[in-house]
Order: sequence, then C-alpha cells, then structure tokens
Amino acid sequence: MKISIVSSSTRRGRISHRIALALEQAIHEKGHQAEVIDLAELALPPFEERFALLENPSAELQDLNQKLIATEAFIFLSPEYNGAISSGLKNFIDLFAKDPFSAKPIGVATGSTGAMGGVRAAYQLQQNILTINAFPHPRMLMVGKMDQVLDEKGRVVEPSYGRSQDGFLTAFLDFAQRLSS
Ligand SMILES: Cc1cc2nc3c(=O)[nH]c(=O)nc-3n(C[C@H](O)[C@H](O)[C@H](O)COP(=O)(O)O)c2cc1C
Repeated sequence: MKISIVSSSTRRGRISHRIALALEQAIHEKGHQAEVIDLAELALPPFEERFALLENPSAELQDLNQKLIATEAFIFLSPEYNGAISSGLKNFIDLFAKDPFSAKPIGVATGSTGAMGGVRAAYQLQQNILTINAFPHPRMLMVGKMDQVLDEKGRVVEPSYGRSQDGFLTAFLDFAQRLSS
C-alpha cells in the first residue's frame, strides 16, 4: 500500500517529527510504501479557500494534491497544543478536504512531552477525520514523553514505544488493507 504520514509540527526544535520518521521506517519494514509529508517543508498558505475552488493553485499545491489522491492510507500525526491538534494540520485538512481523503483509512498519531501523549488532540482528530468522509482507525498511537522514547533520527530508545508502535501499525495496516480490497 501507499501510505502517507502527515507530520504537522512546524516548530523549530520539534520533537513529534521523530514519530513520523519512526513510523516511516517501520512501515517500510512491513513491506509497504511510506512517505512523510512534512508540513514544515511545504509552508502551506493560511486557509483562504479550499484547494478545489482555487482559481490558480500553485504548482506546489497541485503536486501535493496529486500525491494525496495517489495515497491509499494516511497517518495524521500531531503534537498537542493547548489541548488541540496543531493549527498546521487543521489548515492542511481544511485546504484539501474532502476529495483526496474520502473513503480512505486514516490512522491517528499524537505526541506530547507530557505523560498523556496528546490524548485530547487524538480524540479531536478522530472526529475531524469522520467529518472529511474518511475512516479513522479506533486504535490510536498516543506517545507520551516523546522526547525520551525516540532519538532525533526516529530510532527507538525506549522498547515500550516500539511495542506500542508495532501494535498500532499491525492493526492499522490490516484495517487499511481490508478497506481497500
Ligand atoms: C503552544 C504549545 C502548547 C502546548 N500544549 C500542550 C498540551 O496541551 N498538552 C501537552 O501534553 N503538551 C503541550 N505542549 C507541550 C508539547 O507536548 C511539547 O512542546 C512538544 O514537544 C510539542 O511537539 P513538537 O515538538 O513536535 O512541536 C505544548 C507546547 C506548545 C509549544
């Protein structure tokens, strides 16, 4: 399957991007294609109108839209900021919804340097995903103390994280494959 991981922290010194790198590597090891869509590299415009209604979308937006259309399953990854998903991820969802996401499986992954792993953002994100006509998987990856479980290259330094990630991915990939067949 073609899986895109949307990494949505654009903060200097960000930590949650480590989860994107770890997921990408683990998905490859499970025999699927994985690509990180890094919102920090894209610098999307603040939401003005939906992509489908833009008169002259930039080449960058058109390329990204094509990439989203070609994606079979997504993982949306967000840090928790003030009890919510990142504004960058909400901006991305509002800009491209709903066509490239409709009827596709989307996994939820959140991270925090605190103990709770971004649980409030995770449940909000499930609701957002339903609203864009996509299918959120019930099992979510919520990573507490994310600065301590992965190094800067996304290598696992805390074995319990590796087990959580593997449980999440095994369930999500099974769900995604059933949905697409
Ligand atoms: C603006 C802001 C708001 C935050 N709000 C929360 C929060 O609601 N819950 C939480 O667990 N951590 C919160 N934190 C701490 C983050 O978990 C921590 O800074 C984390 O590294 C953010 O992810 P990032 O490094 O990928 O940007 C907040 C951090 C920032 C900068």
